[in-house]
Amino acid sequence: MDRVMPDTNETLAKLTESAIAGSDSALYAAVSPLLLRPWAQGLFAVYLKQGSDYVLYTNKGAAFTDEHRQKLADLGVARVYITKSQLRDFEHYLREHLADILPDESIPLDMRAEAWFHATVSLVNDVLEEKLPRPLKQNKFFQIRQIVRDTIEFFHAPENLRSVTKLISKGFRNYQHSIGTMVLHYCVLQTYNQAGMDVLFRSTLGALLHDVGKPAVPEHILQKKPSAMSVEEREAYRSHPSLGAGLVINLPLELETHHCILFHHEQEDGAGFPSGLPADAIPYYLKVLCLCNVYDGLTRATPWRPAHTPYEALQRIQTRKSAFDRDALKRLIYTLANAEIITPDRPTEL
Ligand SMILES: [Fe+2]
Repeated sequence: MDRVMPDTNETLAKLTESAIAGSDSALYAAVSPLLLRPWAQGLFAVYLKQGSDYVLYTNKGAAFTDEHRQKLADLGVARVYITKSQLRDFEHYLREHLADILPDESIPLDMRAEAWFHATVSLVNDVLEEKLPRPLKQNKFFQIRQIVRDTIEFFHAPENLRSVTKLISKGFRNYQHSIGTMVLHYCVLQTYNQAGMDVLFRSTLGALLHDVGKPAVPEHILQKKPSAMSVEEREAYRSHPSLGAGLVINLPLELETHHCILFHHEQEDGAGFPSGLPADAIPYYLKVLCLCNVYDGLTRATPWRPAHTPYEALQRIQTRKSAFDRDALKRLIYTLANAEIITPDRPTEL
């Protein structure tokens, strides 16, 4: 509930500059003051609600300190407001500091899950804007946003939030890669007529969590070029799908989500890991995930090489085309070009 304690209105007015900014609630977004840390200073203005008016509390460019936050807590202010025009700055701030916010036990779990939602949606927006054709962005953004919104429930369990925190704290690149893979996976999977909403949702969540086992692999191995890894290091790297599957084994996830975590490195030629599944044992949504995972990875910089352009990434995939499903590759290329796909589905079952 948006509330300012009635007997504290006067104090609150003194705290603010008493500059009524407006009363149009459509222009403001409510956020918890617990999510505003000193790191947020100057990035956006913060408003308080008094009656139906929005009153400036800290201006853009001013510090939002622990003292500010404490004063609001003392006054029982449960919500502060940010103008929607500065919401993008707020989301950028959240994603930059997500690794600090998520494990912070002083912030209630639902607020941390909300922070995760805003930060993830902001990244989804970036991926759609930077990596996919513009018309696709307009079509897909709200659908993917809804899937991310539906995953909030998943993060209300502390152990789930902890797993994702590890993934993010291990390096923001991993988190960006997870989101990039999820967005591509969703867009390509949607081109299959047989992809019902259940499979779409479950495997999109699986795409988001696919590398949840990576934080258990020593960092010096993750920083290495695969061709420079020793046999033992390669084994350790290749254990991350099984480690991830072990982490989530007791969570109430659907089969497709578990499959995405365990089998996202399985290949058409049977040379994938951990199981070396043959092509006919790999369901279509995993074929799509395997491809989108590799494509997104190639278009991001690593410690040993700069990011490949989309053209270079597709060329590299073509040189290893026996590893990937031809139909899925065609659908990825069409998706990247925003071309219409008219080929019939070819169902495959695990
Ligand atoms: Fe992986």
